[in-house]
Amino acid sequence: RSIKSLTTSPSSHILRRGYASEAAPDRKVAVLGAAGGIGQPLALLMKLNPLVSSLALYDIANTPGVAADVSHINTRSEVSGYSGEAELGKALEGADVVIIPAGVPRKPGMTRDDLFNINAGIVKGLCQAIAKYCPQALVNMISNPVNSTVPIAAEVFKKAGTYDPKRLFGVTTLDVVRAKTFYAGKAKVPVAEVNVPVVGGHAGITILPLFSQATPKANLSDAEITALTKRTQDGGTEVVEAKAGKGSATLSMAYAGAIFADACLKGLNGAPDVVECSYVQSTITELPFFASKVRLGKNGVEEVLGLGPLSDYEKEGLEKLKPQLQSSIEKGIKFANQ
Ligand code: NAI
Repeated sequence: RSIKSLTTSPSSHILRRGYASEAAPDRKVAVLGAAGGIGQPLALLMKLNPLVSSLALYDIANTPGVAADVSHINTRSEVSGYSGEAELGKALEGADVVIIPAGVPRKPGMTRDDLFNINAGIVKGLCQAIAKYCPQALVNMISNPVNSTVPIAAEVFKKAGTYDPKRLFGVTTLDVVRAKTFYAGKAKVPVAEVNVPVVGGHAGITILPLFSQATPKANLSDAEITALTKRTQDGGTEVVEAKAGKGSATLSMAYAGAIFADACLKGLNGAPDVVECSYVQSTITELPFFASKVRLGKNGVEEVLGLGPLSDYEKEGLEKLKPQLQSSIEKGIKFANQ
């Protein structure tokens, strides 16, 4: 590229510089479950994010070590570690964004729903504290089963009188990250240029990548699209099996979580055109929660974008996922209200 194009085009490096400077507003990010497999690399990535001024790392144990370690990195944010429930309030106070990767991960042979019994209770407790200490924060829910933990969070916030659907997000970014990687490999296009919306939910067939809308365009066969769709839906299981009992995706999830949190921060700071897929309260289908492209802004969700044109294969996938997603939503709501 010529020097002229670098200095005069409104290219991303200029935008990035604008939002990356020390003049960015103060923003506190809290990570709940910060000592875990996702939590640690996510803490690292958030420490590298220049939009963060304060990074609070909370877990039921082991956070002092993680916080001391990460705090030595010479980037903008001040890091503090909080260990045990008595310190949860301090970790949350004043947070703009709360990221929740707390809870148990899958082992081979488990579905995300098998995690429900343990993680539902963990998420419920953490959300009660969020309602008390930082009801204005944007909540990024990573803990599985996301299809149910997001409805649980919504019910907890409703009970506390703090629910704002614009501020609650299920993090489905890893599905998008996987769809992009797998598509780029098959279509033989540069992975950095790839965009693929992924809609629905975050478990098995509820993960619906819309490869018909993928860019750059490629002429893939129906069989290739089917294989890509299945690989995206089973991406988590691929990692669970490869780790053979040592957990599920942590590094790629930390990356995806950091991308999504960064988008939330950019939105809060007023950056234009921040769009990511996320599982949110929605009216674009008959389901009360649904993942689709979402425009992020100063209040969180600015606009839930529609699905766009679907191929027949995607239309079929959409109809198939609805009953499963509906029942996961109902399970979450029932749990929260019992
Ligand atoms: P991990 O077991 O390595 O870490 C979980 C951490 O949560 C531990 O440090 C544990 O002490 C902590 N924790 C447990 N109860 C807590 C509580 N009440 N408050 C605060 N912290 C608590 O598990 P990993 O691999 O980090 O996974 C975490 C969650 O993320 C799992 O539910 C997993 O299924 C989910 N996940 C979600 C993905 C997504 O795409 N949304 C992708 C991959 C995993």
